[in-house]
Amino acid sequence: MRILSGIQPTGTLHLGNYFGMMRPAVELQERGDAFYFIADLHALTTVRDPAALRANSRELAIDFLACGIDPSRSVFFRQSDVPSVTELAWILSTVTPMGLLERCHGFKDKTARGMAASHGLFAYPVLMAADILIYDSDLVPVGRDQKQHLEVTRDIAVKINETYGEVFKLPKPDIRDDTAIVPGLDGAKMSKSYHNTIAIFESEAALKKKIMGIKTDSTPVEAPKPVEDSVILGLYRLVASEADFRAMEGDHLAGGVGYGDLKKRLFSGIWEYFAPQRARREEIFSDPEFVDRVLAEGAVRARAAADPVMSRVRAAVGL
Ligand code: TYM
Repeated sequence: MRILSGIQPTGTLHLGNYFGMMRPAVELQERGDAFYFIADLHALTTVRDPAALRANSRELAIDFLACGIDPSRSVFFRQSDVPSVTELAWILSTVTPMGLLERCHGFKDKTARGMAASHGLFAYPVLMAADILIYDSDLVPVGRDQKQHLEVTRDIAVKINETYGEVFKLPKPDIRDDTAIVPGLDGAKMSKSYHNTIAIFESEAALKKKIMGIKTDSTPVEAPKPVEDSVILGLYRLVASEADFRAMEGDHLAGGVGYGDLKKRLFSGIWEYFAPQRARREEIFSDPEFVDRVLAEGAVRARAAADPVMSRVRAAVGL
């Protein structure tokens, strides 16, 4: 089974990225032939500072490796190191109906927030389809916000197959119900654009400040506290054992424990959960060439996987 996913180097990795995509991606390394990449071509639609893009890509590579990508098992690479993906995106775009892209939430949301409506932003899902189809992917672990992009990918693959014969496999998304939409500090979906994120590698002081700053209602210490839509419980569920989660839920229901104490437990839960990843990150920092080696080798292996698919596509369309 070929597993594939990508992540944009547009900022600091947060808990939504981790639980929605990275943790499933790390688990799936055991189950098949995994390809994970840094979507730097996609990031060009929003990042216009070359030094920042380069630095973000590198930092993301370090962080993803620290979170458990094992380069001896998985192919880990930069999207732009396989230039034929843009050629495939062009070929796909020739069969992609405008209406399909016009319906995409990503483009509508970004332009509604004031971003200029560039062709790259509009065609973003076509490049994403190329990312997936060029590696003959079967399974794509992502958060719920990418569901529509996976549907577009399948629609485009079907169009190509109808036009040129069986060229592509139809990939499936892997969206885990319990982490499909990780909530942010305000209870809305955790997202950079909502300024409600918790970074995976937040400093201890910054993490404490963010958690203690979570807005709560004015229920007195003695009284039971609402569990529905509780941001504290929603986040604690991600990092705590089942028993610890039940205990905190019980403390909400029984009353007698104040929000300050509950937040301190949440802080410790998050801080401890990411201790192994922090340690691994320090190790990687102490060997700066490690990341370059991994990405260089990943590029070679990714190109080797993409080349036969591109030959098949070129032959099928008459190039
Ligand atoms: P990106 O970089 O926005 O996000 C990376 C992954 O994190 C997931 N995610 C979340 N999951 C649950 N809850 C949240 N609050 C949350 N926030 C983010 C996203 O769903 C995503 O899986 N278009 C992709 C990158 C991409 C790609 C691909 C993915 C490019 N080509 C091919 C898969 C296959 C993106 O922008 O992800």
